[in-house]
Amino acid sequence: MVPALSGKMNGENLVYLDNAATAQKPSQVLDFLCDAMVHSNANVHRSMYELSDKSTTLYEEAREKVRAFINAPGRENIIFTSGTTASINLVADTFCRRLEPGDEILIEGDSHHSNIVPWQLAAERNGAVVKVIPTDVMLGRGRSGRVAFEELDSMLNPKVKILALTHISNITGIVNPVGEIIAKAHAMGIPVLVDGAQGIVHEKVDVQEMDCDFYAFSAHKIYGATGVGILYGKTEHLEKMPPYMGGGDMVDTVTYGKTTYAPLPLKFEAGTPNFTGAASLTPALEFAEYLRDGETGRILKEEEGRIMSYMTETLASDPDVEVYGTAESLRKTPIFTFNIKGINAGDLAQLLDKMGVAVRSGLMCAEPLINSFGANSALRASFAPYNTLEEAQIFVKCLQRAKNMLL
Ligand SMILES: Cc1ncc(COP(=O)(O)O)c(C=O)c1O
Repeated sequence: MVPALSGKMNGENLVYLDNAATAQKPSQVLDFLCDAMVHSNANVHRSMYELSDKSTTLYEEAREKVRAFINAPGRENIIFTSGTTASINLVADTFCRRLEPGDEILIEGDSHHSNIVPWQLAAERNGAVVKVIPTDVMLGRGRSGRVAFEELDSMLNPKVKILALTHISNITGIVNPVGEIIAKAHAMGIPVLVDGAQGIVHEKVDVQEMDCDFYAFSAHKIYGATGVGILYGKTEHLEKMPPYMGGGDMVDTVTYGKTTYAPLPLKFEAGTPNFTGAASLTPALEFAEYLRDGETGRILKEEEGRIMSYMTETLASDPDVEVYGTAESLRKTPIFTFNIKGINAGDLAQLLDKMGVAVRSGLMCAEPLINSFGANSALRASFAPYNTLEEAQIFVKCLQRAKNMLL
């Protein structure tokens, strides 16, 4: 079903546990991509011939698939970009143009660099200030890595012009209570962007129920092609925001003196998009739907509960291991970031690679959060719904072997 998973790495059966970085692709996505490159490879929205019509249809069908998947009100609310990073930059640049010196942008202490740096750039341009909702670790109130949202009440004020949340941390795996926080921010008239790069992979996302103003995610983490991102935005904001980039396809009429813009969503889609990649979202999201739990709507398999308990208990039973992200009263997804006392995470990852186990090491694009735990790198094993308990057990066995070799 997911061909890469039956591959080898360094001669060993591959155990792929770097799903928070990117997901492996199911056969239907691979077949779709190949077929589309052969039978409907033509630029979109531009030409009168059949091939181009087919390509445009696939591209727009994928937009509709995304719309339905997150329950956005209309196709004008779904903008294709090149990734979560591009989606957040689009908002940080265009939405923040109206910010004034002294205005505030709030972000979370568990943010990925993609939800930090674009806001810093925006703040530098406007004289605004980026403020951080700290984690319990940053406040010296615990080691769970949860964001201390109880601090939010004293941070929300009329100077805050946007709040940038993380749905699920790519380090701790903790599911943030975004709905609750959005309601609080909205009570003060503050719009909210949600970085859904990890959230879309595991949670049921209904943007109307969540009531977020923007939701950003990447196709490649949810079984689609690389180089494609999605920005959901409320029409009221998207209408007011100026275009991010200028070029073909985003215009209505162009003269040397003045240009008028295409209606939403094309106003934000300058140039030739990654139309084949975007179209792959149709089979990719069908695969995600197939993995969905009928009762909760969350994207998981039965095995996830067993993997969660097995990994949590096994890591907790080793006194040399410190896990960054324990859920306390919050829910957590199967992302496990940790260090083993006295061992360099990079060395562990290299030994695991030789045993066929693919995990990430380093700062995982969340340097401030990793540093807050007193570490300058960590090891991360992140599971997807297609991973099995057996793979978790192989990982633990290999980790133990690697640990014994390094201690
Ligand atoms: C929480 C989070 N935000 C943003 C990103 C950036 O996604 P991309 O590199 O696809 O733009 C990632 C990727 O790992 C992520 O985990």
